[in-house]
Amino acid sequence: MDQTFLMIKPDGVQRGLIGEIVSRFEKKGLKLVAAKFEVLPEERVMQHYAEHKNKPFFPGLKSYIMSGPCFLMVWEGKNVVAITRSMIGATNPAEALPGTIRGDLGVEIGMNVIHGSDSNETAKREISIHFKDDEITSYERVDEKYIYE
Ligand code: RTP
Ligand code: MG
Repeated sequence: MDQTFLMIKPDGVQRGLIGEIVSRFEKKGLKLVAAKFEVLPEERVMQHYAEHKNKPFFPGLKSYIMSGPCFLMVWEGKNVVAITRSMIGATNPAEALPGTIRGDLGVEIGMNVIHGSDSNETAKREISIHFKDDEITSYERVDEKYIYE
C-alpha cells in the first residue's frame, strides 16, 4: 500500500487544528500508521527542505518550522499521496479552494498549516528522514472492506 508523510506545522498546532485535520484524513478512509509530536531539530529541517535551501523564503521557512512543535504522521492508503495533496490544497492558502485544508484553515503562504509529500519518491525520502522503520506500524482497519472494492 502507498504511504505518505504529513506534518501539521507549528501554526496548525498552536491554533488547535490537529484534531480537525487528523479527522479529515480518518474520515476519508486513510490509515494512520505512525505519529510523533516534536520540535524539529535543525539537521532534519535541512534534510527535509534541502530542495528549498537556496530560495529567498528559506530563512523565514526554517524559523517558522522550528518555532514550536509539529505533529508528524505517516498515512497509508491507495493513491494516498495524490489524495492528501488534493485534500491539502494549493501551497498559498489564499489560492487554495474551499473544502481543502489550506483553503478552509489558512490565509497566507508563510503559515500554510500542513506539509504533505508531493510524490511517492518524496514520501519515501521524507518518511525515512523523520521515522525509523520500527516506528511505523502495520495493522488492518476494521472498515477496510467497506473502503476498498
Ligand atoms: P509543503 O512542501 O510544505 O507540503 O508545501 P508545498 O509542496 O505546497 O510547497 P513547496 O513549494 O514545497 O514549499 C514548501 C514550503 O515553503 C513555504 N513557502 N513559502 N514565501 C514563499 O514564497 C514560500 N513559498 C513556499 C511554504 O511553507 C511551503 O509549504
Ligand atoms: Mg513541497
